[in-house]
Amino acid sequence: RHFTPQARPLAGIKLMLTAGPTREALDPVRFISNHSSGKMGFALAAAAQELGAEVLLVSGPVGLPTPAGVTRIEVESARQMHQAVMAHIADQQIFIACAAVADYAPKTVAEQKIKKTASDTLVIELTKNPDIVAEVAALPDKPFTVGFAAETRDVEKYARDKLSRKGLDMIAANDVAKAGQGFNSDDNALTVFWPQGRADLPLAGKTQLARHLLILIADRYHERH
Ligand code: CTP
Ligand code: CA
Repeated sequence: RHFTPQARPLAGIKLMLTAGPTREALDPVRFISNHSSGKMGFALAAAAQELGAEVLLVSGPVGLPTPAGVTRIEVESARQMHQAVMAHIADQQIFIACAAVADYAPKTVAEQKIKKTASDTLVIELTKNPDIVAEVAALPDKPFTVGFAAETRDVEKYARDKLSRKGLDMIAANDVAKAGQGFNSDDNALTVFWPQGRADLPLAGKTQLARHLLILIADRYHERH
């Protein structure tokens, strides 16, 4: 497909994305993770590339092909994702945190497989992972930083709270309690918040939704620069 210059609002812009779940190892054969499919993040990476951006995709383990023209770094844990992002953030103009990063990881990773014991209960101690998007937004020379918020209730309240608490430029919220949207679905609906406004992106395929969100991001980004 060919785009006119106006249809490539991200031309010449370096854009980094995180996508997918993370895996937090318990022992050599087990991990804690979540149901993120990576579909939204990969759709955003493909759409950003089509809109002209130079795209770096930092992805947790997902069974998805790398979109054409996109550079991909594969990671497993939140700590590895954090390291990969920080190593490449300096020359990025836009950062979109779409990954479902595990908030906590097992405090210790057993060197050998954990064995079943006579006890009916097992307690695993967890320790907090770094908050990648908050750390990026706190950088002195921070890129335009966009977060996601998957909520099951009080969507606007929690999303606006994350926007201000993490110092983000924009947050895209989805109500994962609604059927047919979010985590593993091909469709999604988003409500986008920024300090002075909001926009509703209605239920659509993730490809179309990704395009809408990126055009909104490009508008806000160019307004600032
Ligand atoms: N995020 C991140 N690093 C983490 C946790 C979250 O970069 N360790 C990012 C996500 O990629 C997303 C945003 O922060 O863009 C919000 O994630 P979310 O899980 O909704 O927020 P939390 O602050 O972790 O709050 P909670 O899980 O309690 O709702
Ligand atoms: Ca979280």
